[in-house]
Amino acid sequence: MLFNKRKAKKPPVIDGRLRHIAFIMDGNGRWATERGMPREYGHSHGAETFRKIGRYCASIGLQCMTVYAFSTENWKRPEAEVSAIMGLLKKYLLEAIGQMERDRVKMAFFGDLSPLTPELRELCERTREISRHYDGCQVNICLNYGGRDEMVRAMRRYASEVANGRENNIDEAEVSDYLFSAGIPDPDLMIRPGGELRLSNFLLWQNAYTEFYFTDTLWPDMDEAELDRAIAAYQGRKRRVGGI
Ligand code: FPP
Repeated sequence: MLFNKRKAKKPPVIDGRLRHIAFIMDGNGRWATERGMPREYGHSHGAETFRKIGRYCASIGLQCMTVYAFSTENWKRPEAEVSAIMGLLKKYLLEAIGQMERDRVKMAFFGDLSPLTPELRELCERTREISRHYDGCQVNICLNYGGRDEMVRAMRRYASEVANGRENNIDEAEVSDYLFSAGIPDPDLMIRPGGELRLSNFLLWQNAYTEFYFTDTLWPDMDEAELDRAIAAYQGRKRRVGGI
């Protein structure tokens, strides 16, 4: 046959109903184990998937994506695995710094960065600083992040400001302003690959009305077609947010 008759798949149409997608990048370890490789190998492929999905999200016109890269609980993992993940983050941030101007991607970090190495903290700060000049897709990386920890921090900060004379008139909008995600729309869609059906302390406040999409696909196998399916599923849902 002279011509490939397979039609090129059209990218999804993104409108104001879908501004922000959040991802739990789960399944890296199992993906590596299935191949008889150490878990770090899965994380390294997971980092490539993050890059690929990030590019795709930006190309289809998404305003914002958030990924769960390292939780407050992930420190319990073997030291070699933790340091491999930190190494991948460093590698990714160094590359991102070189490409941000071209891609106009904005980057932010959710989580307490203080336990990270000074080098990694400095890299996070630099990418954050460079981002100020850009207006493209915003990529939020959750690093040493936990939803409960985020709320406790917000409460402590608010309480200390009230103790220092701030008027106490807290409401939902104000709580949002005290979170790492202040100023960013809540996720419209949360995608969890890897087959687990739970939230794992991810964006607990922000995910209150988010639509969830779960798939058995492991994160390193996640691709544009799977993301298209998740978006199509989302676009077929009715978001009532408590109404009828
Ligand atoms: C969860 O899968 C994955 C993580 C805890 C780490 C995710 C980190 C990366 C993808 C690499 C660095 C990130 C960026 C943004 C460059 P798991 O290890 O729990 O998998 P399992 O459930 O199969 O064991």
